[in-house]
Amino acid sequence: MGFISDEELNAIRSKANIVDVIGKYIPLTQKGKNYFCVCPFHDDHSPSMSVSYDKQIYKCFSCGASGNVFTFVQNYENVSFNEAVSIVARSVGLNLDFGPVKKNSNNFKLELEIMSLAERFLQNNLKSSSGIDAKKYLEERGINEEIIAEFGIGLSLDNATSLKDLLLKKGYGIDKLIELGVVNEHGFDVFARRITFPLWNIDGDIVGFSGRIYRNEDSAKYVNSKETKIFKKGELLYNYHNAKDYAKREKFILVVEGFMDAIRLSANGIKNVIALMGTSLTSNHIDLLKKLRVKVILCLDNDDAGLTATINNGMMLIKNNVDVGIVRLSGSKDPDEYILKNGIDSFKNLLKEPISYFEFRINSLKKNRNLNNPVELAGYINEVIDILKDVEDPILKEITINEIANNYKIDISLLKERISWEKEKIPNVKPRVEKVKHDHQDEVAMRILYYMMNDQKYVNLYKKKLGYITDEKLRIIANEILYYSGIHNKIDVADFITYMSDKDNFKVVTEIVGMNMQEELSEENMIEYITSYYRLMVKKQINDLKIQMKNEMDVNKKLEIGKRITELKKGSVEYGRN
Ligand code: UTP
Ligand code: MN
Repeated sequence: MGFISDEELNAIRSKANIVDVIGKYIPLTQKGKNYFCVCPFHDDHSPSMSVSYDKQIYKCFSCGASGNVFTFVQNYENVSFNEAVSIVARSVGLNLDFGPVKKNSNNFKLELEIMSLAERFLQNNLKSSSGIDAKKYLEERGINEEIIAEFGIGLSLDNATSLKDLLLKKGYGIDKLIELGVVNEHGFDVFARRITFPLWNIDGDIVGFSGRIYRNEDSAKYVNSKETKIFKKGELLYNYHNAKDYAKREKFILVVEGFMDAIRLSANGIKNVIALMGTSLTSNHIDLLKKLRVKVILCLDNDDAGLTATINNGMMLIKNNVDVGIVRLSGSKDPDEYILKNGIDSFKNLLKEPISYFEFRINSLKKNRNLNNPVELAGYINEVIDILKDVEDPILKEITINEIANNYKIDISLLKERISWEKEKIPNVKPRVEKVKHDHQDEVAMRILYYMMNDQKYVNLYKKKLGYITDEKLRIIANEILYYSGIHNKIDVADFITYMSDKDNFKVVTEIVGMNMQEELSEENMIEYITSYYRLMVKKQINDLKIQMKNEMDVNKKLEIGKRITELKKGSVEYGRN
């Protein structure tokens, strides 16, 4: 486990009661020996997750998620294992910081160093006398010193080699500067004559810039960093690293189009905000949003592009089982303008009542349509029905159908029929949690491993009566259990999970821990499992040998294999009598 020893981990884990830790995140109810809650790792409303005080583990009977206190915090908070350990340690009053393990920082140390130096230089420019006009522009937009400092806003000078010159003087190579998109191929600063905004990756490292014109200039409003090995537009969301904790606290994240909108909102106390920067959501973005496990409120620009982006991005989120709310602005082009015009409180009121995605879709269909015209009305109703097919919420469905039936005097049963008929045609593609299928033999082995992880006496029984598993992954796990219990003179499933957490077969371990098995098992039953596993194993061996025999040309060797098969058959029968 790197620099945290297993002993330290076990000490922290034994101090932290899993019931208390999980209980801080989700309400638990006690039923008998165990506690139950709604599983946070899949979309659910019934209490399918059980938390065992005795074993100090959790498992979900629906999606199979399972593990100990560390893996729970790791997955719930979406942090590294080490961070999870630090969080748990803090919760029991141990102030140990094992720190996050950052992925990029180690790999791209030089690149990130250059970007952060560039940012400091650009920020200084804005403070200098060359920055007077830019500063005036920002002031006029209501961007004060404090906001400038918080968002690292800077200025790239009119002299289009000043940033390049500085970085070269610091000893960085020109090729590196071009590769990072700070300097262009002709040797000029990419963001020259622009106000600069640093762009961060999700860990908060500066990986790129966006530069905005601030004088009357006939060129693109914004220039952004090109894609580089550290700047990947599809992988970052503006302000994500700042917003994520606030989002969890507020139970929603606000998604806007421009980063100026995000800056305005954040400066006005709405910190759980990110900006798309004019792109549409990638699957990577969706993963980042899903990990927060909060509602996503889309408040994109009040123009046609913003409307289309709301329809498309919203649909993508819905298809990924994300709870989506929509806020549409009127009278202003974007949140930035809206707040400057109407004040933050007015915006906060809008935010309090987002409409559902489908309500928004149905409302927006009415736009630019003359519903007094029967042809246009029919087109409208058909499109509404099309959308309703995807609506999960039966109440919204019912309300909408009733509304249409009443407003346009249409037979309600006709509408309902259309919807159910269409629905039948289209299979329900709601993604389910996939469970890996195992063949019967592996399934039996997994049961044996399950009980071994829970009881030392079954570890001993395995050692004595079986000692081998055909499947390599499962065999490695069995050996790890033997090794672990050999060192500690006992088996403790919660600590064993920690021990396995950085090993290759960890997923299989949690799968086994998550199996829906009877808590107590008699020794006779365990022997039955072992016996039946042994028979399956021998059967497989015999089958393999039969194939080998068939393909064997040498008569003597053929005979030898035959003998081996007979022995195996006999042995298996005898074993069963033991
Ligand atoms: P907007 O044009 O809505 O930007 O573009 P904005 O936030 O209102 O900017 P201001 O208020 O005029 O300063 C939204 C996003 O699209 C990207 C930027 O990332 C911007 O934040 N964009 C826009 C560009 O990349 N290039 C452009 O020329 C314009
Ligand atoms: Mn704007």
